[in-house]
Amino acid sequence: MAALKKNYYIKSRDFIRAGEASIKIQTLLKSLNFNPKLIRRVAICGYEGEMNVVMHGGDGSLSFAINPNEIIMEISDDGPGIVDIEKAMRSGFSTASDEHREMGFGAGMGLPNMKKNSDDIIVESEKDQGTRVRMVFFIDKGGDDG
Ligand SMILES: Nc1ncnc2c1ncn2[C@@H]1O[C@H](COP(=O)(O)OP(=O)(O)OP(=O)(O)O)[C@@H](O)[C@H]1O
Ligand SMILES: [Mg+2]
Repeated sequence: MAALKKNYYIKSRDFIRAGEASIKIQTLLKSLNFNPKLIRRVAICGYEGEMNVVMHGGDGSLSFAINPNEIIMEISDDGPGIVDIEKAMRSGFSTASDEHREMGFGAGMGLPNMKKNSDDIIVESEKDQGTRVRMVFFIDKGGDDG
């Protein structure tokens, strides 16, 4: 069976539409009767990734594939990139502006949450070259690892 694939555009700094792609994916997975815990994990990762593009990145996209044994979600943007990925992955590290903090963002928990809620994560980025976050979710594990 061919994999089901979706691709959604994410516009940088568009806080009005931010999160829409993750909601669409959530709705799609629900309609396909995926395990609610797996859906929740995918939705958290999608939302955090989307918000990072909106807040820190450039225009980008969220692409999504459902394969027989795994879900792959790739969120990429052509923004300023992450200079120190290891640092960015640490809980509490954030370069969010005061304006973003007033909106309730900037806890520095997005990337750590994406790592925690996915089965595998790869972050690739270079200064001025954009950012790509690729996450894998094993379908058979969705029920028991929350
Ligand atoms: N797409 C991106 N482009 C450029 N920098 C990014 C991107 N995603 C993350 N970063 C950098 O990594 C840091 C950590 O990201 P993380 O999502 O963990 O926290 P945050 O977005 O600052 O706060 P929170 O997600 O808790 O609201 C960001 O503050 C930013 O410096
Ligand atoms: Mg974030």
